[in-house]
Amino acid sequence: MRHHPVGLNPYVELPERPLSKHDSKFFNTFSTIIGVLIVITLVLIGLARSIGDPFEKARYESEALDHARVLERLAPAGLVAVAGHDNSTIAIVASAAAGEAPKAALPANGEETYKAICSACHSAGIGGAPKYGDKAAWAPRLAQGKPTLYDHAINGYKNKGVMPARGGNPALTDDLVKQGVDYMAKAAQ
Ligand code: HEC
Repeated sequence: MRHHPVGLNPYVELPERPLSKHDSKFFNTFSTIIGVLIVITLVLIGLARSIGDPFEKARYESEALDHARVLERLAPAGLVAVAGHDNSTIAIVASAAAGEAPKAALPANGEETYKAICSACHSAGIGGAPKYGDKAAWAPRLAQGKPTLYDHAINGYKNKGVMPARGGNPALTDDLVKQGVDYMAKAAQ
């Protein structure tokens, strides 16, 4: 029996396409990895949504609120009756207590005075106003004594900033202004 090189002997079984086997194994592994990655992606999308949803909802709601506020501000300040036209929709309706001029409701005490008027500047320290509860800012002011503070709050005061008389509300009684001062002074002691 003569010895033939393997490649030339038609009767010698060649190894069964070894490269192809390797390819299919690689393909299987690769598909598994891709599959796992897809699953992870879907899980992450779901997770991101569940985390983001409450924020998205809050943003949507605050936008709706902003919108309502904008409409309120854009509303006309008054309507004009035009001679010769039907102006019935803007007829002036007499108030229930006819004869008595409607008075703007005044705050009832120091806290309400602060909240309704003084807080506009004193809660955030607008224009150099001593902030509510800020002991350091109030200390030199309190040192002037209550009568001076009352006087400055009632009649106005200008130093580095401008404290308008009665916080800019002329209807406020002396007593309420004083109570407002007391309310802020108490929080800064
Ligand atoms: C428009 C803004 C504004 C409003 C509203 C306002 N303040 Fe002031 N207030 C200021 C500013 C600014 C100062 C600081 C003035 C300065 O020191 O120059 C001040 C200072 C004061 C002081 C200290 C005065 C001093 O002698 O140091 C008192 C007391 C005071 N305000 C009371 C009140 C009270 C009470 C109200 C509400 C009834 C009120 N303010 C409303 C702006 C405001």
